[in-house]
Amino acid sequence: MGDFVCETLEVNPAGHLSVGGCDCLDLAREFGTPLYVMDEMAVRANCRAFRQAVETCYGAGGKVIYASKALCTKAILSIMHQEGIGVDVVSGGELATALAAGVPADTLMYHGNFKTLAEIRQGLAAGVGRFVVDNRLELDQLSGLCEETGRKADVLFRVKPGIDAHTHDYVLTGQIDSKFGVALENGEALDILRDAWDRPGIRVRGIHCHIGSQIFEVEPFVQTVRVMLGLMDEFRQATGKVLEELNLGGGFGIRYVDEHRPLPPARFMEACAAEIRRFCSERDFPMPFVAIEPGRAMVAAAGITLYTVGSVKTIPGIRTYVAVDGGMFENPRYALYGSPYDAVLAAAPLAERVRPVTIAGKCCESGDLIQEHLPMPGVRPGDIMAVMATGAYNYSMAGNYNRNPRPAMVLCREGRARVIVRRETYENLLERDEIPDDLAP
Ligand code: LLP
Repeated sequence: MGDFVCETLEVNPAGHLSVGGCDCLDLAREFGTPLYVMDEMAVRANCRAFRQAVETCYGAGGKVIYASKALCTKAILSIMHQEGIGVDVVSGGELATALAAGVPADTLMYHGNFKTLAEIRQGLAAGVGRFVVDNRLELDQLSGLCEETGRKADVLFRVKPGIDAHTHDYVLTGQIDSKFGVALENGEALDILRDAWDRPGIRVRGIHCHIGSQIFEVEPFVQTVRVMLGLMDEFRQATGKVLEELNLGGGFGIRYVDEHRPLPPARFMEACAAEIRRFCSERDFPMPFVAIEPGRAMVAAAGITLYTVGSVKTIPGIRTYVAVDGGMFENPRYALYGSPYDAVLAAAPLAERVRPVTIAGKCCESGDLIQEHLPMPGVRPGDIMAVMATGAYNYSMAGNYNRNPRPAMVLCREGRARVIVRRETYENLLERDEIPDDLAP
């Protein structure tokens, strides 16, 4: 193992960076750049770590669901299914991908704050395992469609537990101001549960929440458990009915840079499970079925992006810009969130980092940066650069700004690289454009 933020990366005997036994210089040569590279065994190891943690804590009373928004391709979803992981989808597109990957519909969770009527219909027709209903309009539409079609829907409700995992002391305020789900404070959550219970076609299974992303601490999850179980207990007291399922969402942090110290999944699970057991025995409440929904933690550190370096522009006294052949169109995370990333040169991944550089993309926009002030070895045009931990929310958030074709993705395992997403071509970019007759060239 090399000393990299992505722990499964290695330095091969040639001294080059290698992923799943594949030399990154060979990958760049064979498949071109920019190139998303996924390490299959690293994805599987993440699946197994989460599954094992959930099994240890809950036995058959728990499940891991992969949040496919992090990285949604047929091959990746098929791996998840092989590893015994369910899949969360939030759109007709993610649903179609999961079904095309052979993921059984009954292992799917259908999320989203706005499912169009067509999307609800598709989910119902496919027979998705759970609808996570966000609001009353959606409940009305879903129950209406159930009546119309004679189908039944198993439903969780998205609740805002009021935990802000990104403030220092995880205050229980502010989160009522969120577009997702129903609030606790004003009784909205309790109301929608009562309302849904007796509707024909709707089977109310439980409640769901998601408190944020890239979280390193256990405490906000434990507080969330308390709040969510509190609602389940309140509902039982008010109605005598029992909600059986608690879905705690995702949000488990990963290591993008050296300073990040993510906890192993087991630590989150153990702390939540202990709190759930304590609560249930104190209140004589039946143990709920518990689901979690990691996205980032399943795939981020299993991926890197390879780039070819173009110009290296040193502005004396200011900074050095290293241009790469990608940018915000295939990794918008620095432009959007200022997210930290580490990078190395594929030919000399352990070379001494001698000066800070700013890695810039090729889009026509000053903010099109991959990272700023990152210490790197001397970089020259033509070098292959690897940006680490790009497996989540890169390809899935990519676009075509400046008509840049999206990169290919390869899946590496035991020295074999297989294309799982083909590189977009100019034909792909042009194929949906139409020219009205009066504008034809
Ligand atoms: N479940 C629900 C309902 C979610 O909304 C999300 C993420 C997850 C699970 C998975 O969360 P994760 O384990 O990946 O943190 N684009 C942002 C991240 C947005 C996450 C949105 N929801 C980024 O690039 O950092």
